[in-house]
Amino acid sequence: MDVETLINPHLRAMQPYTPIVPFEVLSRRLGRRPEDIVKLDANENPYGPSPRALEAIAHANTLHIYPDPDQTALREAIGDYIGVSPEHILCGAGADEVIDLIARAFIQPGDALIDLPPTFGMYRWVADVVNAAYVAVPRRADFSVDVQAVQALVTSNLAPTVTNYKLLFVADPNNPDGSTICDEQLRALLALPVVIVLDEAYVDFSAHSSRVSWVPAHDNLIVLRTFSKLAGMAGLRVGYGVFPLPIIKHLWKIKQPYTPNVAGTVAAIAALSDRDYLRENVRWLVIERRRMSELLGRLGWLHVFPSEANFVLCRVAEGAPVNGGDPRWPAARRLKQALEQQGVLVRYFDRDGLRDCVRISVGRPDQTDRLMAALEALGR
Ligand SMILES: Cc1ncc(COP(=O)(O)O)c(C=O)c1O
Repeated sequence: MDVETLINPHLRAMQPYTPIVPFEVLSRRLGRRPEDIVKLDANENPYGPSPRALEAIAHANTLHIYPDPDQTALREAIGDYIGVSPEHILCGAGADEVIDLIARAFIQPGDALIDLPPTFGMYRWVADVVNAAYVAVPRRADFSVDVQAVQALVTSNLAPTVTNYKLLFVADPNNPDGSTICDEQLRALLALPVVIVLDEAYVDFSAHSSRVSWVPAHDNLIVLRTFSKLAGMAGLRVGYGVFPLPIIKHLWKIKQPYTPNVAGTVAAIAALSDRDYLRENVRWLVIERRRMSELLGRLGWLHVFPSEANFVLCRVAEGAPVNGGDPRWPAARRLKQALEQQGVLVRYFDRDGLRDCVRISVGRPDQTDRLMAALEALGR
């Protein structure tokens, strides 16, 4: 028996998600100590968790006990923070787990999941896992959402093989470019007969405020948030969704009972009690985003897209002064590799619409300085 034939056929054909190379692996490969590496490739928050969160983990005395499956204390703390009743809130091991739950709750094989690429790769990945019909409505050249194209698709059924449009994922701000969606466009999407999953992983860095308060009034709006970016807790894996009541009761039924874990839970509650710390770090990152964007733009061979997140997308001119790398590769890919040799990690996507771009996370000022020194050393 060929045991592989027993795997679901759609999973055998599926492409894996491409995560970033783990820090320790790169550190070994580059022969550099982890503290000598400037990690600007995964939109993490370089300031890390609040000291109160670290203390809460150090003093947690219930690590030998399963977490509260109802997430009572965590949901209350989040509800208080975002101003929405806890009955609308469900937490998971990162927003990623909540994305997975949503797809499992709504999609039967062949139902459509609408994606707005270029965007966060997890939406495509989860569509493949649940065997959805993946329908892409590409963003415009400036990365804005083509609302009319989405309307045309959903209302006139432009993809005739698809019968059921179920979910539409909108990252706001969008990863990888940091653009946002305005109220008017969001309202137009909410008028469509699909569920809008508004992914606000980066909203804390944006000029506009969160739309969580819209949820109780819109039965087809789900908003996702995370502690990974705002609270510097990516490694602890805590995220949540804010759901309409007719939806959330079904998600509770299919959710694994014990996520997030105890360490993540106590850290998240403590992080929310230290709002000055969260606010200050956001303020520093927004200031640094502006400084880094200006410095990058001054090089003359990077086009920096305006961003409202903790990263910026840069288009790399073909004539960029990047030595080394395979000459058949786009300049952006060679740039990523050349920076890596100097211990500076940025993100390159081998994907349509992004092959001439790199995405650079906003770090601490000293990290921006290392990045700039590495960029300026390239042509020499
Ligand atoms: C748009 C977006 N949503 C969600 C996530 C994942 O968040 P979490 O770490 O909470 O799983 C990311 C991570 O990079 C992201 O870019």
